[in-house]
Amino acid sequence: MIVMGIETSCDETSVSLVRDGKEVLSNIVLSQIDIHKAYGGVVPEIASREHVKGITLVFDQAMKQANLQYNDIDLIAVTTGPGLIGSLLIGVNAAKVVSYNYDIPIIGVQHISGHIYANNIANTMEFPLLSLVVSGGHTELILMKNHFEFEKLGETLDDAVGEAYDKIARVLGLTYPGGPQVDKLAQSGKDTYAFPRPMIDSGDYNFSFSGLKSHVINFNHNQKQRQEAININDFCRSFQDAVTDVLVKKTEAAKNQYHVKQVIVAGGVAANKGLREKMKYTITDIPVYFPEIKYCTDNAAMIAVAGYFKFQKNHKPDDYLLNGSSRLELI
Ligand code: KG4
Ligand code: ZN
Repeated sequence: MIVMGIETSCDETSVSLVRDGKEVLSNIVLSQIDIHKAYGGVVPEIASREHVKGITLVFDQAMKQANLQYNDIDLIAVTTGPGLIGSLLIGVNAAKVVSYNYDIPIIGVQHISGHIYANNIANTMEFPLLSLVVSGGHTELILMKNHFEFEKLGETLDDAVGEAYDKIARVLGLTYPGGPQVDKLAQSGKDTYAFPRPMIDSGDYNFSFSGLKSHVINFNHNQKQRQEAININDFCRSFQDAVTDVLVKKTEAAKNQYHVKQVIVAGGVAANKGLREKMKYTITDIPVYFPEIKYCTDNAAMIAVAGYFKFQKNHKPDDYLLNGSSRLELI
């Protein structure tokens, strides 16, 4: 079964063709990062316009690279939310046009489910499994007993991990998105600043990163006022160690409580080197999987994979009332 994935929820225009929820035939990602960099973050109105400009080209390239014709496609899977509403609507409407034109069934996919299913590309998901979702907008621990059965064990009470990374990076004068740069600087730093590990012993699976973020930003500010230089590598490493200690400890506790077969990490922050190392070093009794780096951040291949498994569940496509929604729970 060949599924076309379409993802436009934020600042990446992406179209992909995937066979049987695993084999990626093409995955074109047109990133707008360089455009939004000048503003220090994504500007929604600009994002929508850039999607309109780029999407036809991205469709053409995805079809060409996969060497397929439109009538080879069995299903179209499109991100319906959460995300920027203007951006989502470009993808949803493009999906409807192709679906109507070529008479291909269409299915809506929730963005976070896509991040989770990115793990089925290099590995095969086996249940029950535990998924740690860490992206720019989400931080959640999800228990899955079967395909498309999501039980939220806990989530962030305030900021998402990626959001905290990007804000810290901004204060340090790094360009958007700062997460990857903080990660890189942390590689050659030491955990010398002893930042707090928020909620590490809270006994539940919730998280909180806004207090840590403020602490780190204030610390930087105070050092500046005292005209005492910070070591940027040590600073990034100290922040990264604080965050990853909490993420790994809670994931390990949930893994032990629910006796899962595997742990899968999902979302943009799954690309983080420190998190990858600590998770694999700490959890050794069951497999811990991360998507390949290119499938960690937003892409349409993950949406095609999720769409495939969602469709397998009850073989019910959506109708043309399908719409984008800026807020959408994991379904
Ligand atoms: O999943 P994603 O592409 O978009 C959302 O759905 O939110 O995640 C983007 C987030 C950004 O906050 C970015 O800074 C962060 O993922 N990120 C990283 C790394 N690579 C991307 N954060 C820390 N370390 C990284 N290596
Ligand atoms: Zn995402």
